[in-house]
Amino acid sequence: MKIGICSDHAGFAYKTKLIAYLTKKGYEVVDFGTDSEVSMDYSDVAHPLAAAVEEKKVDLGIAFCGTGNGMAMTLNKHKGIRAGLAWAAEIGRLVKAHNNANVLVMPARFISFRAAVNITNTWLETEFEGGRHQRRIEKMITW
Ligand code: RB5
Repeated sequence: MKIGICSDHAGFAYKTKLIAYLTKKGYEVVDFGTDSEVSMDYSDVAHPLAAAVEEKKVDLGIAFCGTGNGMAMTLNKHKGIRAGLAWAAEIGRLVKAHNNANVLVMPARFISFRAAVNITNTWLETEFEGGRHQRRIEKMITW
């Protein structure tokens, strides 16, 4: 599985450590930046990640910023993206099982790195349940 990942400066440290963790686990990880803790605009890396997911250049995406909100808002401007914000493993499970999130967004300034790993693993290992949740997802873009 190929995973695209991005962060702004606030999420840079967690992104760097998560890339190492996921690579060691056998995932192919594509880094969309940023490349340091120098202040930058999250949209500049969120849009390229969203495009890569939409164009199936990567299978799934992961994004970090301070609160997760700037990343989630930007990513969700893209029609093919369901970016879900998760700050606990159970939310990571539900955002895949119920919302089929194709990008996982985490708030680096409000969770531990250990929590980020648990959330990521849970999200990656969970299957979308389909059924009534598929109907609800379809209504996100048809109203
Ligand atoms: C950066 O200071 C911060 O605004 C950003 O990481 C994020 O939380 C925005 O939503």
